[in-house]
Amino acid sequence: MSKIVIIGGHGKVALLLAPILTARGDEVTSIVRNAEHAVDVTETGATPLLLDVEHASAAEIAAVIRGADALVFSAGAGGGDPDRTYAVDRDAAIRTMQAARDAEVRRYVMVSYLGAGPDHGVAEDDSFFPYAEAKAAADAALRATDLEWTVLMPGRLTLDEPTGGIDPTAVRAADNPGTSRANVAQVAAAVLAEPATVGRDIPFTDGDVPIAEAILPR
Ligand SMILES: NC(=O)c1ccc[n+]([C@@H]2O[C@H](COP(=O)([O-])OP(=O)(O)OC[C@H]3O[C@@H](n4cnc5c(N)ncnc54)[C@H](OP(=O)(O)O)[C@@H]3O)[C@@H](O)[C@H]2O)c1
Repeated sequence: MSKIVIIGGHGKVALLLAPILTARGDEVTSIVRNAEHAVDVTETGATPLLLDVEHASAAEIAAVIRGADALVFSAGAGGGDPDRTYAVDRDAAIRTMQAARDAEVRRYVMVSYLGAGPDHGVAEDDSFFPYAEAKAAADAALRATDLEWTVLMPGRLTLDEPTGGIDPTAVRAADNPGTSRANVAQVAAAVLAEPATVGRDIPFTDGDVPIAEAILPR
């Protein structure tokens, strides 16, 4: 059993991840910023915890995650407002890394996206640009820590049923298949239980390789 904190606990991926973890005996705390979301979180078997990470200091975040074994960052501003995108997807994410180090929560799993990085290729006048920049900065900051990190890089997210199979050789392309959020949740759960995923990026879309095999180093 592990104690796992999910930041962005009412997100679509997070609400699929929490029941997988609680079903296997993990103790899950899901951080939400809206008290009305607590009931949905409770239904997953997780314990809701109210904290707006956009406005919380690293010390405040550290105080609520202390004692956990692992943290999953699955929060996001959802695009739209560039300031909020930088504030959540970059700055709050980086504060959670500092908090994880301060609170000695060694394992950290980031939900990023396929193609994230300094060479994301998104034009400055594209509305996606702040998100691409924010995720590139947050992922780079995580890789530079001494945390036991994994960066998940799913392609375009869908609400399709889980298939249990992914393509770990996926690269960014216009004709990528989608990536089921339910598969992302399964990948996150598998990664949390697989030490061989520490210190690695895991790019993927839906595909044919069973998740337990696909997350291992090739
Ligand atoms: N959309 C795509 O195609 C795509 C592709 C690849 C990767 N991704 C990444 O995958 C992540 C997870 O996807 P998803 O579909 O689960 O996203 P989602 O449903 O939008 O969930 C994001 C969650 O973050 C929460 N959040 C936002 N600001 C917060 C704050 N200040 N404090 C605490 N929580 C906060 C939101 O809470 P509220 O409900 O209160 O706003 C929301 O529940 C995304 O954030 C994105 O970075 C997305």
